[in-house]
Amino acid sequence: MDVRMRINRWTAGRRELLYGHAVTSGLVQPHFVVEGQGIDEPISSLPGIHRQSVDVLRQRIAEDVAMGLVGHMLFPVHSEDDKDPEGHLGLRDDGPMMTALKALREDHGDGIVLMADVCMCTVTDHGHCGHVHEGTILNDRTVTTLADMAVVAANAGADYVGASDMMDGRVQAIRSALEEAGHHGTGVLSYAVKFASAFYGPFRDAAGSSPREGDRRSHQMDPRSPVKEAVMEAQLDEAEGADVLMVKPALAYLDVVAAVQATTHRPVAVYNVSGEYAMVHAQHPEADERRAVVAEIMHAFRRAGADVIVTYHAREIVAGGWLGVEA
Ligand code: PBG
Repeated sequence: MDVRMRINRWTAGRRELLYGHAVTSGLVQPHFVVEGQGIDEPISSLPGIHRQSVDVLRQRIAEDVAMGLVGHMLFPVHSEDDKDPEGHLGLRDDGPMMTALKALREDHGDGIVLMADVCMCTVTDHGHCGHVHEGTILNDRTVTTLADMAVVAANAGADYVGASDMMDGRVQAIRSALEEAGHHGTGVLSYAVKFASAFYGPFRDAAGSSPREGDRRSHQMDPRSPVKEAVMEAQLDEAEGADVLMVKPALAYLDVVAAVQATTHRPVAVYNVSGEYAMVHAQHPEADERRAVVAEIMHAFRRAGADVIVTYHAREIVAGGWLGVEA
């Protein structure tokens, strides 16, 4: 089956995230998970965000869930020494992200929505989002590996696998692999419209995922592309069975968000990326001063048509009640 409409309504957490009207509905907090114990390492390029081992992450997310923040997106961070060109780490079921998924599912059951990043850039030593042969990023071989990685994440308990790579045809391959593995209730959050952006810098520092050489322009969209090409990317992923479609980055692409929302039948997410977060922090390091700017940005995302907002601000928004009243 290509499309399973039940996926987005499978659990209470998913229904709240996608269709809820609470201030917290739709917000997703990203996390960086590392190996080890007791690790809570601040990320200098992303103030307020830490790389955390599973034990620390568990405590942190328990606090988030207690405040009503149900959406969480996990990225694994591995040491350079463990990576290889083929990204074997991505297929291990005992790595930090997989361990975290299992633990969080145990802690919170269906009341939490767990999104697991599925991309090769965090597990390859060259830092590219796929297998590379003679300087070319191979599409179809990469898609096969992504489908395998998705099944590992589904086994660990992910609600959605976040396909953040932009290879052609990967949504369909992931959907088929999930079906074959019996994961009829695991969804695909497709980074359907992802631009080759200069706003990802702080994330690549945080995740150690910068390409050693070259760039991501042969697969991520050219920022100069017309809106119709973005709409086509979204439509293709919808047809391949994506459950949620994401536009990324967010702030410089609100016209694209509006166009995608107007043409798709699936929920639309935006990723308020690391560079956008870092800019706001640089201007307003103090939370009290940041509040109004952050609220205004979130309103802009909603107005453009975002159903889901992935943002490093999620926790501070919920903790401070920044969206509850006029800011
Ligand atoms: C990896 C990925 C990236 C981000 C999320 N997943 C970076 C990239 O494409 O290099 C960026 C998120 C952010 O900047 O906050 N495929």
